[in-house]
Amino acid sequence: MAAEMRRVHQLIGAGRLQEAATALNAAQRTAPRDARIFMLGIILASRAGNPDGAVAAGRRALALAPRWHAAMIELGLALARKGGKDELAEALALAKSAVALAPQDAGALDRAIAIAESAKAAQEALAWAEAGARLRPDDIRYQLVLGRQHERQKDFARAREHYRAAAAIDPDNPLALQGLLRCSLGLEDTQAAQAQAQALIERFPGDAMVRYLHALAHGQTPPTQPAPVITSLFDQYAERFDLHLVRGLKYKVPERVAQKLLELHPDKKFNLLDLGCGTGLLGVYLGPIDGFIIGVDLSRKMIEQAARHRIYARFHAVNLLDALRDTPADHYEAITCLDALIYVGDLTPVIPNALRILKPGGHFIFSCEAAQEGEPDLALRRPSSRYAHRDTAVERQCRQAGFADIQIEQLPALRMENDAPLPGFLVTARKPFAA
Ligand SMILES: C[S@@+](CC[C@H](N)C(=O)[O-])C[C@H]1O[C@@H](n2cnc3c(N)ncnc32)[C@H](O)[C@@H]1O
Repeated sequence: MAAEMRRVHQLIGAGRLQEAATALNAAQRTAPRDARIFMLGIILASRAGNPDGAVAAGRRALALAPRWHAAMIELGLALARKGGKDELAEALALAKSAVALAPQDAGALDRAIAIAESAKAAQEALAWAEAGARLRPDDIRYQLVLGRQHERQKDFARAREHYRAAAAIDPDNPLALQGLLRCSLGLEDTQAAQAQAQALIERFPGDAMVRYLHALAHGQTPPTQPAPVITSLFDQYAERFDLHLVRGLKYKVPERVAQKLLELHPDKKFNLLDLGCGTGLLGVYLGPIDGFIIGVDLSRKMIEQAARHRIYARFHAVNLLDALRDTPADHYEAITCLDALIYVGDLTPVIPNALRILKPGGHFIFSCEAAQEGEPDLALRRPSSRYAHRDTAVERQCRQAGFADIQIEQLPALRMENDAPLPGFLVTARKPFAA
């Protein structure tokens, strides 16, 4: 049986899933109480993209061998992949039991760390990564986890130590080098940041993230935020976004814009492209319309939240700059982009494309954080890493692109930040009818 299990494992590894399933079914007929068969069932089902099957196999493995730590951790991983709150809590409990049973098993620790990171259990992730680093001091992955976790807690000094240790293991590792640079930026250690940025750009000259960090280190304003900065922020934020932003920070822009759209289209007959749709708050305030609402967002987790409302017809998990570039002309009666251009920055590729995509007479409605007197037309604010725009410059860009009826509504409180209102403005610009 052991030899057969190894063979099935190899089949799964080689992607020969049908053969592996047939072999496992045969093995189960021969030895119906052998937990190893169900253990392989977890791996097979996960590989086949069947998370429910993986969890079911894990539960059967554990029922047959309740103190088998490897089955515990594998079930934990399968539950964590499903990602629900209860599943993550159960996965973390299983990981704790498994690590307690086999503290020296590095493979189990690796899986436990993955579970802890999915469950956002920082304390466990740190403890297990430290245990992993003690077991395997030359394994860079533990130093990277420790760096990442301390950085998330904004403990840049400790994070930097671990990124340094990671870079000592592999001097070319981009995650270690970027982590070092981000920590130097967080610690406002400009001299170190500039030296690290220089070393990075020499190694990875074409990398968008490196170019972004290099510009920050030199006090320049990068034109836009790289996609991974946005996805990592919003994938983590998605589940608590609505509650935090609307209730906590008194964010009212989607409600205001829904009202505007319904005034412009009282018969509700229009197609809408919602760029940076997030959790779909605009759709919620609009309610069903007699047309399509298409949502674009880089964060799949935000899209998952938006999809629950069943108001949007379709979503595209892409950069809104790419969506703007690739959408054919004269397509929508309305385009919205609410609280998203603060992450996009430079509007040069945005405004002319929005004009092109709109049908004649259509409206582009978007919000910006307001740059104040004395700030440049486009300012990247620290430490928020969000862009603020000057209303006069935005108005000029809209006019130069060919928009008409450009209205700028000042919003004294886009939302709250640090208990103070954050000023912004809402732009409504119409595409002229053909002359
Ligand atoms: C603050 S939320 C606002 C969401 C929604 N528009 C609202 O008003 O509730 C910003 C959203 O824009 C998305 N986003 C930021 N930059 C983006 C980009 N370049 N392409 C696509 N989505 C982007 C983020 O993922 C996030 O979901």
